[in-house]
Amino acid sequence: MGSVTPITGRKDPTKQVWNTKTYGENTRFVSTLGKGVIGLLDPKEGERILDLGCGDGVLTEEISSYGADVVGIDGSENFVETARSRGIDARNVDGHQLEFDREFDAVFSNAALHWMLKPEKVISGVARALKPEGRFVGEFGGFGNVAAISAALNAVGASMDGDLSLAGPWYFPTSEAYSKLLGQGGFEVTYISSFYRPTRLPTEIRGWLETMRAPFFEQFGSEIETAYDRVIAALRPSLCDQEGNWIADYVRLRFSAKLVG
Ligand code: BEZ
Repeated sequence: MGSVTPITGRKDPTKQVWNTKTYGENTRFVSTLGKGVIGLLDPKEGERILDLGCGDGVLTEEISSYGADVVGIDGSENFVETARSRGIDARNVDGHQLEFDREFDAVFSNAALHWMLKPEKVISGVARALKPEGRFVGEFGGFGNVAAISAALNAVGASMDGDLSLAGPWYFPTSEAYSKLLGQGGFEVTYISSFYRPTRLPTEIRGWLETMRAPFFEQFGSEIETAYDRVIAALRPSLCDQEGNWIADYVRLRFSAKLVG
């Protein structure tokens, strides 16, 4: 990129760092809408369940309320601390590096798998973590998720000579592609569906961008506000309605699979 100096003081400016307070304010809908996936999980009293990418632990706590014994893992130390403050057994583990061995009746995941860019590795760790016939149930971004947002980030990034790899480091597969990976990983897919879920953003698009894509904007240093202004202007015609509500172009991929054998 050009001569601007990133303003972040982070050791790795490309790394997503989660602030649990602003995450809650800007994207609480993530756990609210994720409650539907708990219905598909159907947790039972006494079951041992792993919450893969537990975030701030709101849904982990909800699963515990069914009487299940739940362990949460997350790659963010900040999220793990917040989840622990809710009394959850939360551990700082990258979803690609699961080392559990035939311990869980089910693995659950909401809005986390799209951050894990090596899905085969994740699925093999999940298969190892499950008891025979254990369930893997989850929801994450499907193919076409945040397409308008990604296009705007890429266009503005290119116009400002930025690092486009920071525009969207996400994995959004089709149902067909993810079913195939689950099958290859030893699972029988019992349910899978991809659906459009336009999602109202409580703190408008700016809050979402700050929470989900800070590294992209921080790369522009003193020009950070120009980058925000351009991305927001590019998105307004497609994501902001006549009343001024911002609605993100979410596509969800929801699935349930059973470990074979
Ligand atoms: C999502 O939940 O769909 C999502 C979250 C962060 C970035 C992109 C998509």
